[in-house]
Amino acid sequence: MAADVGSWRLYALLRFFYSLFFPGLIICGVLCVCLVIVLWIMRRHLQRRKKSVSTSKNGKDQTVVAFFHPYCNAGGGGERVLWCALKALQKKYPEAVYVVYTGDSNVSGQQILEGAFRRFNIKLVHPVQFVFLRKRHLVEDRRYPHFTLLGQSLGSILLGWEALMQRVPDVYIDSMGYAFTLPLFKYVGGCRVGSYVHYPTISTDMLSVVKNQNTGFNNAAFISRNALLSKAKLIYYYLFAFIYGLVGSCSDVVMVNSTWTLNHILSLWKVGHCTNIVYPPCDVQTFLDIPLHEKKVTPGHLLVSIGQFRPEKNHALQIKAFAKLLNEKAPESHSSLKLVLIGGCRNKDDELRVNQLRKLSENLGVQEDVEFKINISFDELKNYLSEATIGLHTMWNEHFGIEKRLQIRRTARASVSRFSDQEFEVAFLSSVEKLLT
Ligand SMILES: *[C@@H]1O[C@H](CO)[C@@H](O)[C@H](O)[C@H]1NC(C)=O
Ligand SMILES: *[C@@H]1O[C@H](CO)[C@@H](O)[C@H](O)[C@H]1NC(C)=O
Ligand SMILES: *[C@@H]1O[C@H](CO)[C@@H](O)[C@H](O)[C@H]1NC(C)=O
Repeated sequence: MAADVGSWRLYALLRFFYSLFFPGLIICGVLCVCLVIVLWIMRRHLQRRKKSVSTSKNGKDQTVVAFFHPYCNAGGGGERVLWCALKALQKKYPEAVYVVYTGDSNVSGQQILEGAFRRFNIKLVHPVQFVFLRKRHLVEDRRYPHFTLLGQSLGSILLGWEALMQRVPDVYIDSMGYAFTLPLFKYVGGCRVGSYVHYPTISTDMLSVVKNQNTGFNNAAFISRNALLSKAKLIYYYLFAFIYGLVGSCSDVVMVNSTWTLNHILSLWKVGHCTNIVYPPCDVQTFLDIPLHEKKVTPGHLLVSIGQFRPEKNHALQIKAFAKLLNEKAPESHSSLKLVLIGGCRNKDDELRVNQLRKLSENLGVQEDVEFKINISFDELKNYLSEATIGLHTMWNEHFGIEKRLQIRRTARASVSRFSDQEFEVAFLSSVEKLLT
């Protein structure tokens, strides 16, 4: 009898929800259609407003390029990318108008630019307009102790809305990973959109932490202990990853800072045809922090050359010069000199070039003294640099005068920063080219 009552109640409950299902579906549908209509009207309105405020120079409308970087007054690697990107764009497209959306409301634009100069030694030659946003608190994670990803993402849409209402650009670049703002600027703002991703908002690693019921930074113990909660959270994560993929794939251009990020973004956003790695401009400070007088572990001298194996880098000349140097020296001192060529291979052509360089060093009889380090990590790179006596971009006609070594190193270091910024500039400009034409 009791079981009968129980199952009857369950039946009534199901019946009740079922009766709500279709009306609910219809209401949702109507709301969606209304939302689309409102956004479409908004888009027309913004386009008209954009036309009326657009400025022109020599009869041509100026392109407005905007970066979404709510924390642009900070001093991290992401900010370095922002300032280097602006500098590169201003050099190539001096006519355009540059805008940065920022949430740093207690500083002036002038102070932000001074900060960029102080921290990164980057001075912009053309003006930048700052649009100050008041709602940055909406994207702060401490606001959302639960459903942090979703909360921050919805918050970023509101913050993006505030930005769009203040200024409608032609080109929109999200440089802080707020992918949910991309469809807003693309479909409501009518912009061409690009993104530079340092780190995916959700990664497959995070999914596996929940899946395996581990406790981690993104998974509280009360969830990892409970199988049902873990399942629910997993569904939430998969759903989030799916939506993140949808919004991310709105990008016309995607740039990522590393191969690790590339792999995650490729599997989440699935827009490989417009995704490129653009390594961030080198964090020179880390190199400068290596003490100049450091005691070396390897005996002898290490000559280090860094650069992608591209034709214009002319590595062959470096090997020839090195061979010549060895020939001039007494044979017994050979083992104390080593040339290390460090660089990335982007494709088959680059690999072919490396093979040719290996052959060259064999032909010159210096294969024992020349090492190739392809695709090594940043930490390995730093280790080589701390042991290196001499960097080879500028230095190679120098003799190895020990008294002069410190001075040479200082000069070499000054050139490191220029070199890495150039690499970034070339890669960044060629990626965003199609946004600006
Ligand atoms: C602006 O506010 C941030 C945090 O609210 C603070 O760290 C920073 O020192 C402030 N800057 C100035 C110039 O007051
Ligand atoms: C990419 O960005 C992430 C997050 O800031 C950082 O941890 C990582 O080291 C960066 N990778 C490179 C190659 O700079
Ligand atoms: C170096 O990395 C690139 C892409 O990141 C890859 O295509 C290439 O095969 C790698 N080369 C080697 C020798 O590891």
